[in-house]
Amino acid sequence: MLFKKELERRRTFGIISHPDAGKTTLTEKLLLFGGAIQEAGAVKSNKIKKGATSDFMEIERQRGISVATSVLAFEYNGIKINILDTPGHKDFAEDTFRTLTAVDSVIVVIDVAKGVEEQTEKLVEVCRMRNIPMIVFINKLDREGKDAFDLLDEVEQKLGLTVCPLSFPIGMGYDFKGIYNIWEKNINLFGGDSRKNIEETVEISDLQSEVLNELIGDAQADVLRENIDLVEGIYPKFDKTEYLSGHLQPVFFGSALNNFGVRELLDCFVEIAPKPRPKQSEERLVKPEEKKFTGFVFKIHANMDPNHRDRLAFVKIVSGIFERNKPYLHVRHNKKLKFSSPNAFFAEKKEIVDISYPGDIVGLHDTGNFKIGDTLTEGEIINYKGIPSFSPEHFRYINNADPLKSKQLYKGIDQLMDEGVAQLFTLELNGRKVIGTVGALQYEVIQYRLEHEYGAKCTYENLNVFKACWVDPKNSNSDEYKEFVRVKQRFLAKDKQNQLVFLADSAFSLQMTQQKYPSITFHFTSEFN
Ligand code: G4P
Repeated sequence: MLFKKELERRRTFGIISHPDAGKTTLTEKLLLFGGAIQEAGAVKSNKIKKGATSDFMEIERQRGISVATSVLAFEYNGIKINILDTPGHKDFAEDTFRTLTAVDSVIVVIDVAKGVEEQTEKLVEVCRMRNIPMIVFINKLDREGKDAFDLLDEVEQKLGLTVCPLSFPIGMGYDFKGIYNIWEKNINLFGGDSRKNIEETVEISDLQSEVLNELIGDAQADVLRENIDLVEGIYPKFDKTEYLSGHLQPVFFGSALNNFGVRELLDCFVEIAPKPRPKQSEERLVKPEEKKFTGFVFKIHANMDPNHRDRLAFVKIVSGIFERNKPYLHVRHNKKLKFSSPNAFFAEKKEIVDISYPGDIVGLHDTGNFKIGDTLTEGEIINYKGIPSFSPEHFRYINNADPLKSKQLYKGIDQLMDEGVAQLFTLELNGRKVIGTVGALQYEVIQYRLEHEYGAKCTYENLNVFKACWVDPKNSNSDEYKEFVRVKQRFLAKDKQNQLVFLADSAFSLQMTQQKYPSITFHFTSEFN
């Protein structure tokens, strides 16, 4: 049974972190261990670096990198690993949220000195809500940082996780000697002046053994014994079922830059991380081992070359086998489509493939058929859930600056919204268009891309909105609902799916409105059924 074997050996995951915690470095080290790249520095950071270049050049540079790093696939010990890239910059947080709908597990990277940071909190919350299995990697142990127990407390409190350390550091920063691997019961010792290499790995089945004193000295041996006693006393024992259900999070310590703790992490990951998981659709739960292909679009990438306006739609295969040139149903359009050159991803290359399995990502060339969340099947009507839009943080009117190019402008806006660059709202009162974004940077992206890819020009005007709240239509026949629509018309808009949205101008006005119309439910994400 080739299909079953291929399915069993897939691990599709994302690495999440606050910018600078070491996500790129860790990704690169994982690829090095997998033999997918030969040297450090091959994986480019997808960070937005402010400074030398103007912002839109930086955005283009970032876009270029993010095409290359969208999916990094490699093999390790017979396991096919797909790493899905997640931008760390908060202005692209929505991209990351969407990518998290396509992963089966995540690794959370935390900087030992900075501890739990803002972006980590937000991303982990999304994973927790979906019970995505998580492994925590505490990075930069070669530097002075917070006490290991304090950090574990912080992770539990700020991230709401139940941690279970599977490794423990011996010293830190200048005194860093190595790491005791609780999972494998051995010690990796850091060596050399630069402390960049593992000097030796020593099996330690009994921590009371004198060998430990010889290796790390009496003082540190005693501290390690005490620490491990504490770990065993305080934290739950590792339980794979609990981890897989999202209720227990193993923790590893290490230094991605110095290759420390990375192999331990990877070895444990391939052993415990989940194979492709079933996915809930609006209609039913779809299991990966089902024979018929289903998949959904979680990311769309526009061509970097403005002369070729095709795009690459990234499809996660949920069930069955995806085959080249086989007609599949595009559920939203009720239309059959065939793909003659689907791309699969390996390290940093993409290649045309004939078949792909659940857990894999295929890149499909698209001339404007797809938008994020679209489902492909062999004929069954299935709509995958779980790609909601969150309320944007910024809102601006978009105006046409070149009346002769209005067609181009609207086409451009339409396609950029399908890609998920921002959200479009059309005011009920006067039909004016409002663009909502997570970060201010997206307005530059839109303006630049409209001009360079569609030949259209736009200007913006600020609009004071505190939050977009999706209005539940369940009581839409009631008098209260009708009065709400009449009184608040000035603040009402439709999103791209034609759902009614209340654009509250302040927290206070939202609260007053909720009090005045108690039978109306307001939602903070676009998906609420
Ligand atoms: P990110 O993708 O999460 O944003 O982080 P990235 O890997 O780019 O790492 C951020 C910075 O932290 C980089 O330094 C990187 O070299 C450093 N770093 C990563 N892992 C470790 C580690 O284990 N120990 C130490 N000491 N540093 C680490 P940079 O100076 O910003 O960039 P670069 O010039 O080195 O590329």
